[in-house]
Amino acid sequence: MRIGILTGGGDCPGLNAVIRSVVRTAASHYGSEVIGFRDGWRGLLEDRTTPLDIAAVDGLLTRGGTTLGSARVAPELLDAGLPQMKGVLAAHGIDVLIPIGGEGTLTAAHLLSRAGVPVVGIPKTIDNDIGETDLTFGFDTAVSIATEMIDRLHTTAESHQRVLLVEVMGRHAGWIALHAGLASGAHLTLVPEEPFDVDEVCRLVSARFDRGDSHVIGVVAEGATPLPGTMALRDGGVDEYGHRRFTGVAQQLGEELERRTGKEVRTTVLGHVQRGGTPTSFDRVLATRFGLHATIAAHEGAYGQMVALRGTEIELVPLEKAVATLKTVSPARLAETGAFTG
Ligand code: F6P
Repeated sequence: MRIGILTGGGDCPGLNAVIRSVVRTAASHYGSEVIGFRDGWRGLLEDRTTPLDIAAVDGLLTRGGTTLGSARVAPELLDAGLPQMKGVLAAHGIDVLIPIGGEGTLTAAHLLSRAGVPVVGIPKTIDNDIGETDLTFGFDTAVSIATEMIDRLHTTAESHQRVLLVEVMGRHAGWIALHAGLASGAHLTLVPEEPFDVDEVCRLVSARFDRGDSHVIGVVAEGATPLPGTMALRDGGVDEYGHRRFTGVAQQLGEELERRTGKEVRTTVLGHVQRGGTPTSFDRVLATRFGLHATIAAHEGAYGQMVALRGTEIELVPLEKAVATLKTVSPARLAETGAFTG
């Protein structure tokens, strides 16, 4: 069998571990070949490939990023490029395609699958917002990095009796903010799922200092928004992929807080440091298991499916179901922070 593989969307720790796992499983269990398409769907559209054998994936387990390169491609281009992509796959004699990606990449995978291309998807994203899987690899690493950074910010905030706001990634889902906030003992967690009340945030900050606390740490997801009418947030419009352009919610909230409470506020934006570097052992294992099970599924003809973590087991779920809705933080999960914040 010949397997095509690509990594699409924003990179995340664990992508190289999956590539290694697919190549090793394909070669050692089945004697199959793997061809990598470079830079996500773009490589498939433009017919840019690289052969992947066991020697090519040596040392990849621990390496961050993706050796295949990644890119975002506008959905219209993918729609229009469907015949082209089918042609390239046929020309390379690809029997099954394994796209590894987040919401956008898996939606495109579903499109190809509906058009008759044999596809097995693998979910990845630091945001952990893919439906039908308990977790995606990359998330644990991002949370670990954010937690370490917030731990460090506690001590400097304490020394200066400041409010420190930390902006973490999370466009539509506040999973990183929620977990890093809980893990680091943050006093405030703001997520995209629940618009925040600026008056309430100011009240909380003032109350903490009034009762003698030394500092306040707030974790703010980049996609968090204020309740309408409570604070102006600059509008950055949308990019060519239809994604909202962020304008720095933590910085803007910090300015508002300083103005209203008189407390000193500093803001740290963690940004892409959350996505860089070596994956945690948890993510290495999850990525390796996803790659193994996707390769088995490809050989068993389980097309149109995505590998997913359910409890401790890897299962197959229909791609259609996985891309139907984003997995966001539920009010119940958010409420769990109640005893530890405020
Ligand atoms: O989807 C993963 C992610 O890291 C988001 O958390 C973030 O909003 C986005 O990608 C950033 O994208 P880019 O790397 O294109 O700036």
